[in-house]
Amino acid sequence: MPPVSRIGGRTLAGLLPDLHSQRGPVYSALRDAVTALVLDGRVAPETRLPSERELAAALQVSRATVTAAYDALRESGFLTSRTGSGSYVTVPAGTAPRASIAIWRGAEVEDTIDLSCAALAAPPGVLQDALPIAAAALPAYATNEGYEPAGLGVLREAIAARFAARGVPTVPDQIMVTNGASHGIDLLLSVLAGPGDRMLADLPTYPGVIDAAKRAGVRTVSVPMAIDGGWDIAAVKAAFRQTAPRLAYLMPDFHNPTGALMGDDERVDVLRAARQAGATVIVDESFVELGLTAPPRPAAAIDPHVITVGSLSKPIWGGLRIGWVRASVELVQRLAALRASIDMGGPVLDQLVAATIVPQLPDLMPERTAGLRTQRDTLLAALARELPQWRAVEPQGGLSLWIELDAPMSTALTLLAAPAGVIIVPGSRFGVDGTLERFLRIPFALPPEQLDEAVRRLAAVWHQLDRTGAAARRLVVA
Ligand SMILES: Cc1ncc(COP(=O)(O)O)c(C=O)c1O
Repeated sequence: MPPVSRIGGRTLAGLLPDLHSQRGPVYSALRDAVTALVLDGRVAPETRLPSERELAAALQVSRATVTAAYDALRESGFLTSRTGSGSYVTVPAGTAPRASIAIWRGAEVEDTIDLSCAALAAPPGVLQDALPIAAAALPAYATNEGYEPAGLGVLREAIAARFAARGVPTVPDQIMVTNGASHGIDLLLSVLAGPGDRMLADLPTYPGVIDAAKRAGVRTVSVPMAIDGGWDIAAVKAAFRQTAPRLAYLMPDFHNPTGALMGDDERVDVLRAARQAGATVIVDESFVELGLTAPPRPAAAIDPHVITVGSLSKPIWGGLRIGWVRASVELVQRLAALRASIDMGGPVLDQLVAATIVPQLPDLMPERTAGLRTQRDTLLAALARELPQWRAVEPQGGLSLWIELDAPMSTALTLLAAPAGVIIVPGSRFGVDGTLERFLRIPFALPPEQLDEAVRRLAAVWHQLDRTGAAARRLVVA
């Protein structure tokens, strides 16, 4: 597979540690450092490395040293060279993550704490209050066949009004109601891209979109996020320029899994770069209502060409299966036409329930986010107490912490945590090709006592793991 992005000699040199202070020959220190950058998701798979001459100059080492390091990387499967495409990083076969998080729900012990989902239980009373109102409205809808591929008018109106209240004027015809945001993403990939097209996404990103892209034959171009949290805007802009993707999938509002919030200036920069590259931007706002900091302007308020995907799953309840796409009237019609050939439309009763809940969102969220703040702080405090060697950037919203471990053993931890009564998903699930072994996502969606207990159990497992170099390395590349 030819490379899609490239990294310059000086940029790569800036990511590397001092090679001369490492044990052993410089070439093997360079090989190890590049391997670690790939596995940690700091250099994305399929990135073309600088020429040997360029890197040698940037590192002020001999060209023979870089040649030896590149040879060693090729031997271990982390580098592939092809005439005309140069040398680009790869991940050896066998490192790839599983395609489903269901696989991580293994041997459950009795009081297992499930941290596999960044999702909340429904807020008390909200569904119970909405259901009788929806049920009373239902008979009026049952007088025709009931198929509405773009969604019920009353719900499209409520969602459009919520966009307008957030500063994005929207008419109901610009809204398509879907079975959750994931359904919207699938439909958009089918309509807007085809096999072989590229989609730019963050590394890490929401695993569901990686799977959806794979199903659509769309190639994910990953852009590593900044080491200290948030986006590396220069890298995002370079990726748009270099790879000319057809689509970009972004979560500027409380990114899953990092909880990062993109600033207004950053949004402007990224959206401008996307437009210059001719890419269509899909912004996933699944977490936008779960801010612990107020988000800046919605992306669609900055660039009217942005397509927005949203959902009630995170602010209210995933079981409702109500999401939406906001796009041009013409695109909504195309999405609805496709949907009519797949499942005809969504359940009317559920949409009526959603139509009573959407207008209440601004009133419901303060209590929800107050609870989340306590849970986030509890989790951060428990980690600082039990596992101070792990590093977490405080998220500005959303439902999870993205944690940097002190050894690249996320999968090993995950496997041992299950019999110890904690279900977690390894960092590699949030990237392509089995990278991100040094990272772990922990949602703070459960009550504080459970988060405290989960961290105690994880610490006990982590202390049992052999994190010394050789063992950790073997596990990573197995
Ligand atoms: C960023 C993101 N988008 C979409 C989804 C899917 O949500 P839905 O339940 O609305 O399909 C999730 C679920 O975890 C998510 O994290």
